Amino acid sequence: MDLFLDTANLDEIRQTVRLGVIRGVTTNPSLAAKEGIGDLREYRRAVQEICGIVDGPVSAEVIATELEEMVRQAREIASWAPNVVVKLPSTLSGFEAMSVLSREGLRINQTLCFSVNQALLGAHAGATFVSPFVGRLDDEGHDGMQVVGDIVDVFRRYNIGTKVLAASIRHPLHCVAAAKAGAHIATVPFKVLLQMAHHPLTDVGVARFAQDWGRVVKV
Ligand code: G3P
Repeated sequence: MDLFLDTANLDEIRQTVRLGVIRGVTTNPSLAAKEGIGDLREYRRAVQEICGIVDGPVSAEVIATELEEMVRQAREIASWAPNVVVKLPSTLSGFEAMSVLSREGLRINQTLCFSVNQALLGAHAGATFVSPFVGRLDDEGHDGMQVVGDIVDVFRRYNIGTKVLAASIRHPLHCVAAAKAGAHIATVPFKVLLQMAHHPLTDVGVARFAQDWGRVVKV
């Protein structure tokens, strides 16, 4: 399972790229707003900077909700950099926009997906990635990871090439579960990535090795 970083924060992206563990980045309007980005021009500048740092796919989301404006914005976003992937929501307008844009060769990340049926529609409309939102399903008392697993199973059964990108990941166990469920990718917040790296026994072990090494008295 590949890892993407779910953020619009450039420092977090630089730091994680240096670690060599992420293959892409996902952003959305909320993550952009968190970085003080409030219009498309600023969003464009930030996404282009991210695309310069990251080799893999960088998802940027349309803000519009009506079909015509959605398609116009998506085309604009796709022109920002060669590795941009356009995020479109799992709505009727979103599916129609996906059909139009996928036929033009745009790569699409179907976002705000909460069911197998939505994922199937997105796949048929030509989405490259589908993003089931695990944490938000859990928040509503559903089993978000079950939805991820079910989408993986259905896509595998019918040889559907759309990649399953587990999103709305809230803690390290979500990553383990997404990998076990067969997700192709999990997009993780920076905080979760740090939590994935950390284990108290590693810290204790490193300290003990250093201590033991220093104990040898040379005569
Ligand atoms: O990748 C989608 C993610 O940014 C949403 O996460 O925690 O707002 O549900 P969250």
